[in-house]
Amino acid sequence: MQDPRPAPSLDVFARRKREGEPLVVVTAYDLSSALIAAAGGADALLVGDSLGMVMLGYESTLPVTLDDMVHHCRAVQRARPGLPVIADLPYGTFHVSKEETVRAGLRLVQEAGVHAVKVEGGRQRAAAIAALLDAEIPVMGHLGLTPQSVNRLGGYRVQGRGAESESRLLDDAAFLAEAGCFSLVLECVPAALAARVTAAAPIPTIGIGAGPGCDGQVLVFHDLLGLLPGRPPKFVRRYAELGRAATDAVAAFAADVRQHRFPTAEQSYGVAATPAGEPATEGSIGPAYPGGTATGGEPAA
Ligand code: KIV
Repeated sequence: MQDPRPAPSLDVFARRKREGEPLVVVTAYDLSSALIAAAGGADALLVGDSLGMVMLGYESTLPVTLDDMVHHCRAVQRARPGLPVIADLPYGTFHVSKEETVRAGLRLVQEAGVHAVKVEGGRQRAAAIAALLDAEIPVMGHLGLTPQSVNRLGGYRVQGRGAESESRLLDDAAFLAEAGCFSLVLECVPAALAARVTAAAPIPTIGIGAGPGCDGQVLVFHDLLGLLPGRPPKFVRRYAELGRAATDAVAAFAADVRQHRFPTAEQSYGVAATPAGEPATEGSIGPAYPGGTATGGEPAA
């Protein structure tokens, strides 16, 4: 069935900057996160290479491959979120040659259906960004703490402190806008610097650990929902404690099974069959509609 909603467009980024309305970006990595983020009102989804850490259990984003990204982007698109989807170009895919960069971008667009890619780095990525734009692939920039640079940076540290680092970041932001990026992530930079970049940049800035002066904010799905154990970074606000709630739910299931309280007749089939046969999975899982079960949308045919 044709999706009746307007096709997702990156125009929302420029429009929100013009209108001074904050942009809300949430990371998504699979069907359920995309459905939840879309139903929750995100303006765009970012399939970040943070999936290496929150979905695949790596200690950094460096091991994430292009195949990993394609796999997860396809799952996000199967949710038909009705939103622009941006995918990280993973480490190693835009560092070797323009040809490899474009081929990686094309895979994400053609095989995974994303609308844009995100490239970490400023001026030193000029050739990669130009090649992607030349291949009609919109690019989101990413400055400040760029996790793919973790080894060079010596860890996950706040960036843009000190005159030299500050002026490099301002210069890189001006460069990315000039180069044709449609927006720019600012990660872990002082709030005052992010506000200066935002005031100067003709493209919207999307902050994560960059204070309230950005044009929009992005959070990692697992961080904002409290899905994983451990102390989150300072810039995270947890809007739920779903990890704890889920653990409690599994513990309740385990106790019910062990105490013979689950299943009961309510979750069991009888011997008498209806003429058409009884559907085993009615009202069950799956991407039943465009837009997410939480909206109560009509099931798709
Ligand atoms: O990989 C990611 O999720 C990101 C965001 C944190 C901006 O790059």
